[in-house]
Amino acid sequence: MDAKQLGDELTTVLHTEEELRSRLAEMAREIERDYGLDRPPLLVGVLKGAVMVMADLARELRFHAQMDWMAVSSYGAGTKSSGVVRILKDLDSDITDRDVLIVEDIIDSGLTLSWLKDNLQSRGAKSVKICTMLRKPEALKVVIDVDYVGYDIPNEFVVGYGLDYAENYRNLRDVAVLAPHVYSDQGAESNA
Ligand code: PRP
Repeated sequence: MDAKQLGDELTTVLHTEEELRSRLAEMAREIERDYGLDRPPLLVGVLKGAVMVMADLARELRFHAQMDWMAVSSYGAGTKSSGVVRILKDLDSDITDRDVLIVEDIIDSGLTLSWLKDNLQSRGAKSVKICTMLRKPEALKVVIDVDYVGYDIPNEFVVGYGLDYAENYRNLRDVAVLAPHVYSDQGAESNA
């Protein structure tokens, strides 16, 4: 789905599909350089938002990119800043002594990733690094060390490239700001 199909549902395109793919290629080169082509990490995607970035990053990498997935419920009791994280789907793999690279679409408050990094480290991973396509520096609530960041973006309600509003817009090719009239009646919090 293209931004122009969505008309006034979007206010601004922050990053086009071309920009995202080109930035991802730069990140892939950094990842290859850091790990070495002969020491590929296990890529761990966080459902559902990370599906697009995982698909593009994995194909861009020039090593065997094994993938595993987790699904977590980031927020308990209806508030997105509670820091409560529940595992809905766990990894299929044993990550003991493995280098793990978490692949995310966005870091917003940082609470999900902060918890996830600790959780994977506690399983005996050799290393746990984080790669995210987007980050909202103004929304961060915890200090979190992120190894690979595509773009820092403003603290607005963004959709596309995996990011949803009410499960829609994930298949928008670009990353764009959702127009307030789309969500204002619903009392939605800004993403993700
Ligand atoms: C989004 C995103 C991260 C998390 C980031 O997922 O994919 O997992 O929120 O937010 P945080 O930094 O404030 O913790 P979401 O819970 O919206 O689920 P989804 O990927 O299925 O859309």
